[in-house]
Amino acid sequence: MKFTFITLFPQLVSPYFEDSILKRAIKNEKIEIDFKNPRDYTKNKHNKVDKAQAGGGAGLLMNPQPLCDLLDSMKSDDPDIHVVFPLPTAKPFRQIDAKRLAKKKHIVFVNGRYEGIDERVIEQYANEVFSIGDYVLTGGELASMVMSDAIARNIKGVLGNEDSLSEESFEDGVLEAPSFTKPNIFRGSAIPSEFLKGNHAIIYALKKELSGLKTNYFRPDLFLRNIKGK
Ligand code: ADE
Repeated sequence: MKFTFITLFPQLVSPYFEDSILKRAIKNEKIEIDFKNPRDYTKNKHNKVDKAQAGGGAGLLMNPQPLCDLLDSMKSDDPDIHVVFPLPTAKPFRQIDAKRLAKKKHIVFVNGRYEGIDERVIEQYANEVFSIGDYVLTGGELASMVMSDAIARNIKGVLGNEDSLSEESFEDGVLEAPSFTKPNIFRGSAIPSEFLKGNHAIIYALKKELSGLKTNYFRPDLFLRNIKGK
């Protein structure tokens, strides 16, 4: 899988891939990353990448011309690129999206800066648009990094232990049960005794119950949708 980040600030994104699991995934050729800078596609004298908004309005937008020229050239090289725009005004990015997108060959994240991107660029080029939460970031880069991380760990061979994928939060639309290490007592607090007895059926039932309680407490929306109704 290849991730391309279209960004004015590649140096914000690249360090995240220079350590730990994603560094190893690049070394093992499970993922590949590259960067394209819209500034390299400008046609004006001062390589300006921003533009005033039509009809006034606070702040500048990304100039559509460099973005469109860049996307056109990428599409002519590879018509199958999957173009994703991170936007605060989009549908929420979820674990099922991470799993689905892990099967794509080449995802291109188009990262806006300033007050955003001309809507026509989004309409013409986006295969999908996602928000990572109900807050506004200073640009799309952090959101693209969040999504590429969540996607990459669902690609076969990226995680050391793939069993962890099937037990984790959101797998059944609920939050994962709490987990513990040994010893039994740590700073005066004990773990549920069943975890020490080794009866896997009982541990499984307890984890399910704890997962339900946690989901109800922190995410009543998920509890109603995925536990109570079943
Ligand atoms: N760009 C700015 N804010 C964002 C958000 N919440 N999600 C995705 N992209 C964004």
